[in-house]
Amino acid sequence: RIAGPCALVIFGVTGDLARRKLMPAVYDLANRGLLPPGFALVGFARRDWADEDFGQVVHDAVREHSRTPFREEVWQRLAEGIRFVQGTFDDDAAFAELATTLEKLDRERGTGGNHAFYLSVPPDAFPVVCGQLSRSGLAAERGGSWSRVVIEKPFGHDLESARELNSVVGEVFSEESVFRIDHYLGKETVQNILALRFANQMFEPVWNAHYVDHVQITMAEDIGLGGRAGYYDGIGAARDVIQNHLLQLLAFTAMEEPVSFAASELHAEKIKVLSATRPAEPFDETTARGQYASGWQGGEKVVGLLEEKGFAADSTTETYAAITLEVDTRRWAGVPFYLRTGKRLGRRVTEIAVVFKRAPHLPFDKTMTEELGQNALVIRVQPDEGITMRFGSKVPGSEMEVRDVNMDFSYGQAFTVSSPEAYERLILDVLLGVPSLFPVDEEVELSWKILDPVLEHWAANGRPEPYESGTWGPQSADEMLRRTGREWRRP
Ligand code: BG6
Repeated sequence: RIAGPCALVIFGVTGDLARRKLMPAVYDLANRGLLPPGFALVGFARRDWADEDFGQVVHDAVREHSRTPFREEVWQRLAEGIRFVQGTFDDDAAFAELATTLEKLDRERGTGGNHAFYLSVPPDAFPVVCGQLSRSGLAAERGGSWSRVVIEKPFGHDLESARELNSVVGEVFSEESVFRIDHYLGKETVQNILALRFANQMFEPVWNAHYVDHVQITMAEDIGLGGRAGYYDGIGAARDVIQNHLLQLLAFTAMEEPVSFAASELHAEKIKVLSATRPAEPFDETTARGQYASGWQGGEKVVGLLEEKGFAADSTTETYAAITLEVDTRRWAGVPFYLRTGKRLGRRVTEIAVVFKRAPHLPFDKTMTEELGQNALVIRVQPDEGITMRFGSKVPGSEMEVRDVNMDFSYGQAFTVSSPEAYERLILDVLLGVPSLFPVDEEVELSWKILDPVLEHWAANGRPEPYESGTWGPQSADEMLRRTGREWRRP
C-alpha cells in the first residue's frame, strides 16, 4: 500500500539515528514507490541551516546508508519536498514557524494537513516537544486530517517514569495517534515468528510445557560503546534492549494465537502474556550482569568500557545482562525463558532457541547417543536470517550411533526479494496509520514492571562482573544456567 499525502517532521535530525536509519528509510520508501507525490520531509533542529543545507545532509545520508540504488529522479522528487525549521524545543516562535511551514506545504505540495512528528530525541525532551505541538495547534486533527507522534526509546527509565511519560504524551495525543517505535518489530524474522507459529500445524502442538524444556533469547553484539556514553552510561544493557526488544521477542514467542492480526487483537495477546511474566528469584542466582573489559575482537585489541571516552571511571553500567523469566500460564508453567544480551561478545547474532525436552526413552546403547543433545528450533533473527531445526540423526556406518544435525531454512535462499529495513516498514506503517507493530502504553508499562525488581536488586548489590571483550560474557552468566543443569547455546 502507498501512503497518502502527508508530511513527516523529524525532531533530532542531527542525530545518528536520523542519519543512519530514518532519512535513508524515507528515500528507500520513495524509491520503492511507496510515498505519494504529496509528501514532504521536514527537519527540526538547532543548527543554522537553510532548506538546501538540510537537503544536502539528507542526500549524504541517503548516499551512504540507503538500501536501494540511488536514482536521481527519485531523489529530485523527494528533495523538492524537503524543508528545515531552525529552533530549540523551548522556542515558541520556532514551533509557530513549523506550523507555517506545514501549512505552506499543505497548500503547495498537497500534504493534506496530515502530519507525523518523529521524536528522535532524548526522553526528557518528549514532554516539552509534545507541549509545543499542542500549543501550536499541530497536535490537533482537523477536518479529516491526522496528526501522529512517533516516539523512540528509551520510553522511561523504570515503571514510574514510563507511566509519567505515557500520561504526558496522552494529554496531547490519543493512544491511536501514538506510535512507539521498537524497531525489532519491523524485522521480517520477528514477524515471521507469528507466521511460523500460526500458519502451520506442526509446531504449535509441541509449543508448550509438555515438550519445551526452556527458551533462550539471545541478542549478542560485537560492537562496543565508544561514542555512545551520553546515551548508554547509567542506562545499561537491560534498559537498552531487554525492556523493549527482548521482551517483545518473548511476547511473540509465548503469546496465545490472536483472534486476528488486527492491532487490538495482537496487543491484547501480548498484554496478556506480559501480565503473566515475572522474573524468577532469587536474583543472585537467576540473573547475571557484566561489563566488558579489554580484549581482542576481529583481530584488534579493544579497550574496556571504563576506558571508553565519556564513561565514568567507576561506572557500574552493565554491558551484559541475563535474566530468567517465568510465564505463569498453563502453556508455560515451569518453562524458564532465559534472556541475554551483551556488547563486545563473540559475534553479532540475535536468535530465539526453543529447546525441547529429551525423549522420555532412548532404545539405544548409551555409548551410541553420547553426541545427542536436545532438539531445538532456532529462529535466526539476524544475521543469516532463517530457521534451524536441530535433531538427532543416525551417523552413517554399521553402528546405530545418533548425533545432532541441523536442518536449515534460509531467507536468502528461499526468497529472491530482499527484506526491507525495519525502519522502512515501520515508518510506512506510521504514515498509513497501521498500529499493529507498535507497542501500546500498557505493554511498555508491563515490561518495566517485569524488569524493575531486577534493576533495583542490581542497583543495591555491587558491581557488574568484568568479562573479556570478544568472549561470551561473564562467568556468572554461565553459572546461572549451569545451576539448572543447562547451558547457553554458542550460536
Ligand atoms: C538499539 C540499541 O535499540 O538496538 C542499541 O539501543 C543496539 O544499543 C541496537 O546496538 C541493535 O539493533 P540491531 O537492529 O542492529 O540489532
